[in-house]
Amino acid sequence: MALMLKELFCLLLIGFTVAVDKNNFKTCEQSSFCRRLRGVKPGESKYQLNLETLQVTDNSVEAVLVNTEANANFQFTLTAIAGNIFRVFIDEVKPLYPRYRVQYALNGEPQVAKLEILERTSDLVKIKSEENTAIINANPLKLEFYHKGDLVTIVNGRGLFTFEHYRTKTPEVEGQEPPQEDPGTWEENFKSHHDSKPRGPEAIGFDVSFPDALRIYGLPDHADRLSLRSTGPGGLDPYRLYNLDVFEYEVDSTMAIYGAVPVVYAHSPKHTVGVFWHNAAETWVDINNSKDGNVVSSIVNLVSGHKTEARVDAHFMSETGVFDLFVMMGPKPKDTVRQFASLTGAAPLQQYYTLGYHQCRWNYNDQDDVVNVIENLDKGDFPVDFIWLDIEYTDGKKYFTWDPIKFSNPHAMINNLTSTGRKLIVIIDPHIKRENGYFLHEDALANDYYVKTKDGNVYEGWCWPGASSYLDFYNPYAREYFKGLYSVDKFKGTTDDVYIWNDMNEPSVFNGPEVTMPKDCLHYGNIEHRAVHNEVGLAYTMVTHDALLQRTPNKRPFILTRSHFPGSQRYCAMWTGDNDAQWSHLAISYPMCLSVALGGLSNCGADIGGFFHNPDAELLQRWYQAGVWLPFMRAHAHIDTRRREPYLFPEDVQNRIRNSLRLRYAHLPLFYTLFWEHEITGDPVIRPLFYEFPNDMNLVDVDNCLMVGSSVLAHPVTEAGASSVTVHLPGGSSQYWYDVEDFRKYTGTGNYNIPVSLDKSPAFYRGGSIIPRKDRPRRSAELMKHDPFTLYVALDKNKSAQGTLFVDDYQSFEYRNKKYVYINFNFENNVLTGSLIDKTDYPTKEWIERVVILGPPSGVKGATLKSKSLGEVKLETSYDAEQSSLVIRKPGVSVRESFTIKLF
Ligand code: NOJ
Repeated sequence: MALMLKELFCLLLIGFTVAVDKNNFKTCEQSSFCRRLRGVKPGESKYQLNLETLQVTDNSVEAVLVNTEANANFQFTLTAIAGNIFRVFIDEVKPLYPRYRVQYALNGEPQVAKLEILERTSDLVKIKSEENTAIINANPLKLEFYHKGDLVTIVNGRGLFTFEHYRTKTPEVEGQEPPQEDPGTWEENFKSHHDSKPRGPEAIGFDVSFPDALRIYGLPDHADRLSLRSTGPGGLDPYRLYNLDVFEYEVDSTMAIYGAVPVVYAHSPKHTVGVFWHNAAETWVDINNSKDGNVVSSIVNLVSGHKTEARVDAHFMSETGVFDLFVMMGPKPKDTVRQFASLTGAAPLQQYYTLGYHQCRWNYNDQDDVVNVIENLDKGDFPVDFIWLDIEYTDGKKYFTWDPIKFSNPHAMINNLTSTGRKLIVIIDPHIKRENGYFLHEDALANDYYVKTKDGNVYEGWCWPGASSYLDFYNPYAREYFKGLYSVDKFKGTTDDVYIWNDMNEPSVFNGPEVTMPKDCLHYGNIEHRAVHNEVGLAYTMVTHDALLQRTPNKRPFILTRSHFPGSQRYCAMWTGDNDAQWSHLAISYPMCLSVALGGLSNCGADIGGFFHNPDAELLQRWYQAGVWLPFMRAHAHIDTRRREPYLFPEDVQNRIRNSLRLRYAHLPLFYTLFWEHEITGDPVIRPLFYEFPNDMNLVDVDNCLMVGSSVLAHPVTEAGASSVTVHLPGGSSQYWYDVEDFRKYTGTGNYNIPVSLDKSPAFYRGGSIIPRKDRPRRSAELMKHDPFTLYVALDKNKSAQGTLFVDDYQSFEYRNKKYVYINFNFENNVLTGSLIDKTDYPTKEWIERVVILGPPSGVKGATLKSKSLGEVKLETSYDAEQSSLVIRKPGVSVRESFTIKLF
């Protein structure tokens, strides 16, 4: 009975509510630390640096920072980090409790850079590193960062820096005694503290200002516009970073949702700079844009050289942790995003097939259903590479088991899939059903693998299985144990080509405070949950990643996560969670994924069709059309929705969905090449327009379109009944753009009203780019892997273009042993050249089938190809009727060798 009630509760939670229940989630006013920190008065900073204690090394300066009011001491360190980055680190000298230092976000210890002292007085120290200088003002503490002489970032300029500790005079700690013993090192202390006395307030706040900045971006995950809006008392609540399972989240909101990436980028045409707040506790960020909606006067100021009033101020407020701030000095968006990638890592190249279409639903009913779905997709010629199983495949929500009736023979089901070149992804959530006899629960209890309550008992919460406990991924023994569960002999029925979806990892606890784990729960080593909350989902996916590598060492793992944190990109793809079948949710998928991509996670997607409710045919088609250009392309739906696999719709709708999928599959080589380049450089795979055109002030608020790499601009239709779309094409009169479908040429001179039928979703190739495609329609990426390429050469004003292509075995890690070809294509003076960028080889059978030149030169009669293995070959060419493209037929040259094709 109890279980039935719980299930009913879950059903209520998932099925019948229609909009976010804000009562479940705190506002800043309801969060005591946010309220306290928001109340700190500007201009009254009590923090002074004692420069008499200054110590200087090759890479850093250190001094004691004093809270003059509470007479408490802190250790202040400013370190120069390679690649034009500074790191500011502050911790208590004698903490009551050692504070948590984030463990998993950084991709190793950042490499330090040389630093020199330029000036030192009793009030300040001026230092220099690489292209930058910094002034450390002592009284009160104020840090100014200059790039080539221009002041770009100020920390504590408004004096909001606050570091609460046991001596801070707040009612909660009055009369608390300081610790008696010397605290020792941070690591020793953290591990040896088994005392769970209340710690008192330990929040940290600071202000950071960006003089001259017009806009600020970042702080994913929010269902909000790309450019951050002004918040503040009496206005919008601060952007909240606290990983939460927010049921039916609403758009245009600063409320927290599943992920937390505390990075911001402040942008102006002169400078883009960023700060990364390395903290995993609940965080709120107030933003003040001094130029909201008034870009034009700022442009005038900047252009005329007058002092501009543009400036953005941010106020970060975290519940606990240490002060650890990276200041990334840019100077352009690309540099700043790369700096963030140098700290937190880039996504390793994923399997080619994972860029194809994913068919998901909560739930495919049984093994026959899975096979039927694929058969029907095949019948309808809809390309697909992955089919997904949600929680109902398990035996009573016990992960690593199968429902004995509905999935009695998973092996046969999987073999059936793989025989058609498709693969399976199954869900594994972090909550564990508390059921006697369930091996995982029993092992976890016996070996103490669960998260504890503050009193040291196993924490019990409530999730899909009903009563659940939560594996503690900070416990090295639990991690090791969990890793073993994915091996094919433990997770019976799976093969080494089955991949994983890690959901509910905020973690979601249906009956917990704000639908998550209580903050006073304890992780291994007595770490309070409060300190690690935003990092726990990452810790979980790291173990899954290790597990898949251990299971199948030479296949690149694929994991989808819901909760995310800086560094998650090193292990998984993410998606925007439980969106709704509404136009506004389709529209917000672009700004959301763009923000996440700037935050390091390029592999982002949104549930096609909307998770909740039933999209009408128009919305569904538009969602597929938009989904073509997001890196992760998956259709998914709530258990209570009507079935909506593409083949269930009328012929015309099917055609449009099929065309969208084919367009996506044609561009897989482009996405794949961009992901390879992302691994090497950290450049995001999808980009907002301001990133590609940083000097164009008209683009700072544009987030309804995106660029795939630097070569495709996609502007999908996100309104019902639209007959036209206003598309902004940037770059000025010398920048050409070509419609992807009819190759019509435009110049980058601003807004165009593009007529759209239901078949049309505007997308453009940028003049000057060469886009590699595979144009033979097939049923999966797996089946296309040996297919030849078509090169789309989109000429610029000077009749030249450039592009790249990456080819390898699409699945293993052999590319790290130089088993790949990475090709540069260049077109100029009527000659197309293909040349290998790196001295590598991979015995690919892929070759170039066609070249399509957009905006071609006139009067071309034919072409001559030259390559080592083919010698000199005459090729046929032909113009299309409007002379807007020229096709070079059958070059037939392998992508392994250099070649030239000369037009005559
Ligand atoms: C929540 C996820 O966001 C959703 O995609 C999934 O279908 C349900 N959990 C059930 O597993």
